[in-house]
Formats: sequence, structure tokens, C-alpha cells
Amino acid sequence: MKVSVVGCGYLGAVHAAAMAELGHEVVGVDVDQRKVAALNEARAPFFEPGLDELLGRTLGAGRLRFTTDFGDAAGAQVHFVCVGTPQKRGEYAADLRYVEAATESLLAVLQPGELLVGKSTVPVGTAARLAELVDGKVPGALVAWNPEFLREGFAVQDTLHPDRLVYGVPSGPDGERARALLDEVYTTIVAAGTPQVVTDYATAEMVKTAANSFLATKISFINAMAELCEATGADVKQLADAIGFDDRIGRKFLNAGLGFGGGCLPKDIRAFMARAGELGADQALTFLREVDNINMRRRIRMVELAREVCDGSLLGKRVAVLGAAFKPDSDDIRDSPALNVAQQLQLQGAVVRVTDPAALDNSRREWPHLDYAATPEEAAERADAVLVLTEWQQYKQLDPVAFGRVVARKRVLDGRQALDREAWTAAGWSYRALGRRSD
Ligand code: UDX
Repeated sequence: MKVSVVGCGYLGAVHAAAMAELGHEVVGVDVDQRKVAALNEARAPFFEPGLDELLGRTLGAGRLRFTTDFGDAAGAQVHFVCVGTPQKRGEYAADLRYVEAATESLLAVLQPGELLVGKSTVPVGTAARLAELVDGKVPGALVAWNPEFLREGFAVQDTLHPDRLVYGVPSGPDGERARALLDEVYTTIVAAGTPQVVTDYATAEMVKTAANSFLATKISFINAMAELCEATGADVKQLADAIGFDDRIGRKFLNAGLGFGGGCLPKDIRAFMARAGELGADQALTFLREVDNINMRRRIRMVELAREVCDGSLLGKRVAVLGAAFKPDSDDIRDSPALNVAQQLQLQGAVVRVTDPAALDNSRREWPHLDYAATPEEAAERADAVLVLTEWQQYKQLDPVAFGRVVARKRVLDGRQALDREAWTAAGWSYRALGRRSD
């Protein structure tokens, strides 16, 4: 099939390459000239394992190209909208200007019988509104909502082998046509037996925000338990292991620590609350405010813990921060808990040096007032404390004996329960982690 993908960020670039991998002829459209140029040279404009290879393969096969010209989307049977929906400045609601602009641009090329598919995370009600707009301008064109659940760091795998397909389609024959086109795009994925949920627009939109709210709640639940563990001397890691053996609960997303960040979970739960308010159902989601609060408290607690181990004052203390990305295998620093903590420490008088294997360029650009180092050893030179705030594999594998020779004081704070506590304490380090005993 001929497919267009509008918006070539974390979602769209991976989606475009994955659709080409499935055998389609794909054009990716983005307004950012530099991004388009990089993608056409098989260079992902962000860090995502496996994406460069996938781009290289599909560009080489001639099935994929990127452009800034919306006119090139003409003739595609299916047009995917993959633009961002960030949080609005100064309020909780999602900013839909990019979704609206992408739809407007597509209206100029869309033909009857073609399908516009929204993949961006949007407030419930958006698809119905856009469908009305499309119907008014191009009668006979179809609209579907097909949320994307990919995780950064696993985006290629998650797009080619999703754990479910959710189609929000209109009722009646238009819905049948939309479903048939989506099934054709995803033939390989459907044939692999991937579960499908075919539903209305509102349910499809809500599946995404409900899923992210559930994940955020799960993380904040275990972090609330961590707060209690700190108050009682219990151990949150053992607690998570023990409750996780119950398969109704499950161990995944029960890693206590610095909490969630990134471009999705924080803004999605806030946009969900804002939308519930508009719909007069805000009470249903007041618990998400607490989920958000618990999450933000972890960052404050981390700073307090750093102060505690630095003998009660951060003034002039040299602190190494290992990790800047919001999670490992990503260079994404949007709402990064690690950088949030690094800045609080610096503002409170510590001499902070941040390192990260992938996110240093982005960090320098966004937060130029922080000091950066290329390696953990450089960051930790003569440090009074080392904070591990993103659980990169490289940091898990650090040798505590050799690393101990670099620092002034062997104090480590494990913000992600990433380190082998016994090995570090055996090497003479004082080991502290949120929700865990200090011994
Ligand atoms: C998330 C959803 O998982 C994905 O389905 C959706 O499409 C987009 O949002 P992502 O933002 O890539 O994906 O990251 P995810 O792996 O969910 O992690 C989010 C944050 O939660 C990270 O900051 C991570 O460090 C944190 N986290 C995750 C925890 O603190 N504890 C856990 O147990 C798991």
C-alpha cells in the first residue's frame, strides 16, 4: 500500500520505517528540514536502539523517503497522524495545535475513500471532532483512531510486534471500510495473531490514556509504599518482589525509585484530568492528582537524602549525577526526574556534574547552566556523593572497587535500585536508596 506518516518524531519516524518494513511504500512528512535530511540519510534524529538499521534497510530498498512537502502525501491510501500533543503552557490540558495543523494540511491532499488515522495521544472527543471536519471538507474520506503504545527504547520491537491493535472507527459501512484498510496495513501483524479491539472513537482514545494512567498509578503505588518503608524500616524492593509473585498484581512497573518522567506519562495523566473536568467527571480522576503528587515527592526526597548523606548541607559539596535521560536506552530528557534532581541540587549550592551515555547533547541544549562530563569517572572525580538516577546498563556494571578510587567519599545513592547493594557495600561504599534500609 501507499502510506503517508505525518510527524517524524519518536512516534512517527519509527512508525514510518516499520510500515516500510512491513512492505508498504511510505512517505514521512515533517516540517523540520534538519530532521527530514537526517532521516533520509538513515540517521535517527534521536537515540532509539535498532532504528538506524531499520531506516537503512527500508530506505535502501526504496520503500521509504522523508520530505517536508505535504503534497507528497497525495495518493496514499492511508495517512497516519503521528505528531506530538504536549502539555499546554500554564495548564494541564493537551496542546492540540500540531494535530490540528497536520489534519488541515492533509485535507489538501485527502481523497474520498482514503483513510486518515490518528496515532497521537489525544483528549477523548478529538477524533469525532476531526471526523466532522474531514467529512465537511472531503466527503467520503474516512477517519480512524489507532493509539500507539510503544515504549521508548523498545520502539522498533513494539511497533513491529505490538501486544494489541486498537481501532476506533465510525459505525456502519464507513467503519467496515476503515477497519478493512487498517487490517490491510497491518496484514503481517494481524496474521501473527495479535489481539484486536475494534471499537468507537471515544473508547479507542480512552484506551491510551487509561493505560498510561494505570501504569503511572502502579509506579506511584509502589513509591507510596517506599515512603512507608522509609518510615518503618521496611524494604520496598523485597516488598515489591513479594507482592509481585501474585500474578494478579505482577512484578512489572513496581520498581520503586525516582518515579516516572518522559514525554508521555506525566502529561497524559494531566491531560486526562483536564478533560475529565471539562466533561464534568473530574471526581473520577482526582486520584490521579495524588499519583502525580507522590511521583513529584520522590524527586524532593532524593534531594533530601543527598543532603542527609552530605552531612546535612549541600553547600559546596561535589555531587556526581549518573544519568540525565528520563529512562535508559533513550536520549529523551522531557520531564526527566534525573535532571530535575540535578538542578535542585545545584540550586541548593551543590557542585553538580551530570553524565549520560546518550542524552548529553540534549541536556546541554536545554539546561546549559548545568555542568556535564563525558564519563562516570569524570563526573565523579573527587565527589562527596554519587547519585545513580537513570539505570543505564553501563552504570549497573560499574566496578565499585575501581570507581571508589575516583571519588573523595564513597557514598552512593541509588535512585533506581540499579546497583548490587552487597557488592557496593563490600567495596566500602555507604549505599542508600529510596525506600530501603540504610544498612
Ligand atoms: C510510556 C508507556 O509505557 C507506553 O506504553 C506509552 O506508549 C508511552 O508512555 P515511555 O514513556 O517510553 O512509555 O516509558 P516507560 O517505560 O513507560 O517509563 C516511564 C517512566 O516510568 C520512566 O521514567 C521510568 O523510569 C519510570 N518507571 C517505569 C518507574 O519509575 N518504575 C517502573 O517500575 C517502571
